[in-house]
Amino acid sequence: MSHLLIVDDDPNTLASLARAFRLAGHEATVADHAGRALELVRTQSFDLIFSDVVMPDKDGITLLEEMRALGMTAPVVMISGQATVDMAVRATKLGALDFLEKPLSTEKLLLTVENALRLKRLEQENRELRARVGRHEIVWKSEAMRRVMAQVERVAAGESRVCILGETGTGKELIARAIHEGSPRRDGPFITLNCAAVPGELIESELFGHEKGAFTGAASRHLGKFEQAHSGTLFLDEIGDMHGVMQAKLLRVLEEGEIERLGGSGGIRVDVRVVVATHRNLEEQVRNGGFRQDLYHRIFVFPVVLPPLKERKGDLPVLVEHFSRAISQVNGWKPKAFTPAALEAMERYSWPGNVRELRNAVERLLLLAETEVDPETVRAALPQTGASRPSGTLALRVEAFERETIRAELECSHHNMTEAARALGLERSHLYKKCAQLGIDVKGMRRAED
Ligand SMILES: Nc1ncnc2c1ncn2[C@@H]1O[C@H](COP(=O)(O)OP(=O)(O)OP(=O)(O)O)[C@@H](O)[C@H]1O
Ligand SMILES: [Mg+2]
Repeated sequence: MSHLLIVDDDPNTLASLARAFRLAGHEATVADHAGRALELVRTQSFDLIFSDVVMPDKDGITLLEEMRALGMTAPVVMISGQATVDMAVRATKLGALDFLEKPLSTEKLLLTVENALRLKRLEQENRELRARVGRHEIVWKSEAMRRVMAQVERVAAGESRVCILGETGTGKELIARAIHEGSPRRDGPFITLNCAAVPGELIESELFGHEKGAFTGAASRHLGKFEQAHSGTLFLDEIGDMHGVMQAKLLRVLEEGEIERLGGSGGIRVDVRVVVATHRNLEEQVRNGGFRQDLYHRIFVFPVVLPPLKERKGDLPVLVEHFSRAISQVNGWKPKAFTPAALEAMERYSWPGNVRELRNAVERLLLLAETEVDPETVRAALPQTGASRPSGTLALRVEAFERETIRAELECSHHNMTEAARALGLERSHLYKKCAQLGIDVKGMRRAED
């Protein structure tokens, strides 16, 4: 059952529409003037709204405008006895779904309801789909990431082993998943094992499984990650942390394409594509004996290197927008904009935790900001911003230097604008202007006479 709202100043139209909708199994609420309709949409939610155009207190198009301004998203169908093309155009621009002319046929009305509700369902499904896909969506704009993504696309299509390298939080797991989803194995499973998170003595049974009674506590047969990943992809995360003994066992499996469960008798063939990742320098580990050279050659077939975020600042604005939208949607928050100066301040930060740190920072910033995220909010959430070495174009570095100089001077002069302006050799009005340009908050600053 759907909840419909009918707005019309003519009591006969209201009664006959309400009756037709109720007979068709819908719930119908009526409003005999625009003001009443506004009251209703403030407190109730409707699946579809029918509104007359010509009404004494307010015309239907202004009503639609005001309902949209209140954040009402339900589809609206306009009905009119004296529709003009101009009205129809205005209504369509405001997102009216349809424009029906009086007299209305019941058949046409019910068909309109059906179509509108189907469209609403489709939109809802699309939103859910996007939210699901969005979790694995890779967002980028920089040239460095364009090259990475081109590599990913090429390598995904084949069967070669891939080794993903990159600092913590650069998106290694996301890329591993993208390789699986872009591969002919996409309908098979994507199974992950974090080699650093499993204690040494458990990793063998995690990877290869065990038979019932294989060791104390093995109460039943357990399928290992290799078998779970059969016909799909096995992602071995933090491979650089794998124990030496396990490295030897993994090497044998990769060479033979067979695993053996603990306590089992005989090999089991598995069809698995292995993708590995590490934040460590594997070559160096090989040199100092921490990683087997033969295994290194087996897995290092196709390296994909994810650059740290500080080397691809071009991705920052699109990532901020992506996370901001996703976080607001999940939490039901009203979207807040990031000012250009705030984004610049974020670009000056070094992001040691890379994209993961950025995601967490965006969430913090959205919580801290009153209306929009400005440089002050960024400074409150990222204490290092001001202190980090400026990077980027000369203009940006000069600007960062100016900002720090003025801020330091304001500190020295105990936030006295007149004194700071004098020390800097500037007119006070010029200093105010500079502060506004550089995003320095001057609220609460004092003048000489204070
Ligand atoms: N380009 C990107 N677009 C969208 N989200 C991203 C991107 N890169 C990373 N993320 C998000 O950042 C977070 C960290 O990514 P991920 O877990 O893949 O990094 P990682 O390199 O595996 O980190 P770690 O080394 O700490 O395991 C995840 O929430 C991921 O969805
Ligand atoms: Mg990871």
